[in-house]
Amino acid sequence: MKNRIIITLVFFFISTQFLAAQEDYTKHQKITIKRAIAVITSTKGNFVRGVVTFEEVDKGIHVIANLTGLTLGKHGFHIHEFGDINSDDGNSAGGHFNPMEMPHSMPMNEKRHAGDMGNIEADEKGNAHLDYIDPVMKLNGEYSIIGHAVIIHAKEDDFKTQPTGNAGARVGYGVIGIAK
Ligand code: CU
Ligand code: ZN
Repeated sequence: MKNRIIITLVFFFISTQFLAAQEDYTKHQKITIKRAIAVITSTKGNFVRGVVTFEEVDKGIHVIANLTGLTLGKHGFHIHEFGDINSDDGNSAGGHFNPMEMPHSMPMNEKRHAGDMGNIEADEKGNAHLDYIDPVMKLNGEYSIIGHAVIIHAKEDDFKTQPTGNAGARVGYGVIGIAK
């Protein structure tokens, strides 16, 4: 009888601990993300570096990118499906992030891949700066960009070729993480 009471008490204690831990996890999932960041490194044979930040504002997500080490001109600039940058050519990041199953297009078009950020243009020194408000992408909810990857391409996105924009090889990449 005494043993049974002890076993019951122990079991009760373990289950309350388990429920408490589960509740904490649920709370964590409900945090609203306000800022995100991707630190960009280069794929093999390239020299791209930089930072891309994403901040929630009234009309969408404020994207700011500062990159160095690019060749002169426009470079396709996208969020790709997988936050996997383990391959040295960037191909492990998969295709464009497209949770709403839209065609490839330009950033200001509502019918586009969620990851379509257009092009980023580098000057003769290889420096590129981009600053715009994205009306489609999200930091929170089921279509959140968190955990996916930013990809910078060798060539310009033509906004026509499906589903890639024909932007060529991947020269830089970085995983999007939650920022303070
Ligand atoms: Cu891309
Ligand atoms: Zn696309």
